[in-house]
Amino acid sequence: MTTFVLFGGTGDLARRKIIPALYSAFVNDRLDASFRFIGAAREGLQSEDYRQRVADAIAQFGGKVSGGTPEKLAAFLAVTYYQKVDARIPEDFEGLRAQIPVSEANPTLFYLATAPNIFIPVVEQLHAHGLTAGNARVVVEKPLGRDGQSAQAINQALRQYLHEKQIYRIDHYLGKEMVQNLLALRFANSFLEPLWNRKWIQDVHISISEQVGVESRGDFYDQTGAMRDMIQNHLLQLVSIVAMEPPVNADPDSIRDEKVKALRALHKFTPEEVSKKTVRGQYRAGAVDGKAVPGYQTEPGVPTASRTETFVAIRAEIDNWRWAGVPFYLRTGKRMATRSAEITINFKPIPYAIFGNGQGPMRSNRLVISLQPEESVKLFMKAKEPGEGIRLSEVALDLDFAEVSTSRRVESYERLLLDAMHGDLTLFVRDDELMAAWNWVDPILQAWQNDSEGLKSYIAGSWGPAAASYLLAQHGAAWGEEY
Ligand code: BG6
Repeated sequence: MTTFVLFGGTGDLARRKIIPALYSAFVNDRLDASFRFIGAAREGLQSEDYRQRVADAIAQFGGKVSGGTPEKLAAFLAVTYYQKVDARIPEDFEGLRAQIPVSEANPTLFYLATAPNIFIPVVEQLHAHGLTAGNARVVVEKPLGRDGQSAQAINQALRQYLHEKQIYRIDHYLGKEMVQNLLALRFANSFLEPLWNRKWIQDVHISISEQVGVESRGDFYDQTGAMRDMIQNHLLQLVSIVAMEPPVNADPDSIRDEKVKALRALHKFTPEEVSKKTVRGQYRAGAVDGKAVPGYQTEPGVPTASRTETFVAIRAEIDNWRWAGVPFYLRTGKRMATRSAEITINFKPIPYAIFGNGQGPMRSNRLVISLQPEESVKLFMKAKEPGEGIRLSEVALDLDFAEVSTSRRVESYERLLLDAMHGDLTLFVRDDELMAAWNWVDPILQAWQNDSEGLKSYIAGSWGPAAASYLLAQHGAAWGEEY
């Protein structure tokens, strides 16, 4: 029997992502026949009340679950239970203990979708009640800490009670289809590898823009900011996959060994470099897709004088043989013009243009890997326009995965939950990766703290502060939408 226990079972993440993901796995017969789901939170609810909330969450956020029927929903709710658990009350864990058969034959997954300050007390109590024994695994959500020091403290505490192999640090970007495809693209094809280095690549852009604001999470977000919310985890994970050396095989640790080396090679900024190579911004009132939206400082839960960044752009560098001198431009922001997540590899220009005027002012070759909204890989190249004479135009070899494959799309949370249930750590972050990411981020956060002037503003619905364009323009580069 597999038991899935969700701490923070009544929270936002549970409703929006985790419950729909579990339901999708259930509907598609990806869970074992004796699967049980226990929601756990501080509220005193009966299982019946909780089932109603689970059904509501599925109705509201489970829109993409294919194959759901009233019968399947009833069957899912029949294996759903609730347990009131307050991390500070040891007796609450006795109630939980009574519901879980602890043994090697019965995997139990504890998912901690709570604030990080609850992680340690929960794991302590799980341990004290014998629940970390047997086949138990613990999934922890980001952000893991506020800086390297607090992340280290959480890691140490987790390891006091759990083996590293029982700890699943989730980063849902790693579960996205195209992120895995990037591994396939890089390491299952021969033609890219000779080009994948400083000799042929001009720069790399990794941009995740969102149209949403902070929604109901103003309070949490204001203490977090875009650097801790997105760059420290999602963007640096993408950097590590683009930049890593070929692993010796596809085992979780072989892949993670190479990713951590890439993260360690990130050039650490001095305070002077931070002011030259980073831009941070906060959105003012504006309009997204023609709809007026308020500024960040008037969002619910956000203090009116908040200095928290909702946008970050960075010119990062990797100090190793493959990448020395190749800028990695990273960018993310809330309330931007469009929703998209893209990795662009810009190749160097041709050494000499032989076609004169017919050449036209065109960008050099680039490979664009889109994670969302669509999943695609496009290789932009130049070709002759049909007709007389030679006129070149840009065309794309376009691999649209919605067209090439009709297989069921698995959302990232579903994929990662199933991996954790099956004990596959490949797409989870190892402690040394986490620390390497914090080691790079910490000096930037510190320098920002000492520089209250550096926060720029941008209008909601734009592409961020003008300084973010200048960051690239001064090196003769531009963001994709600026061409
Ligand atoms: C989460 C952040 O990790 O990722 C959110 O906390 C952000 O602030 C979200 O909106 C973006 O994820 P996705 O999959 O919608 O791009």
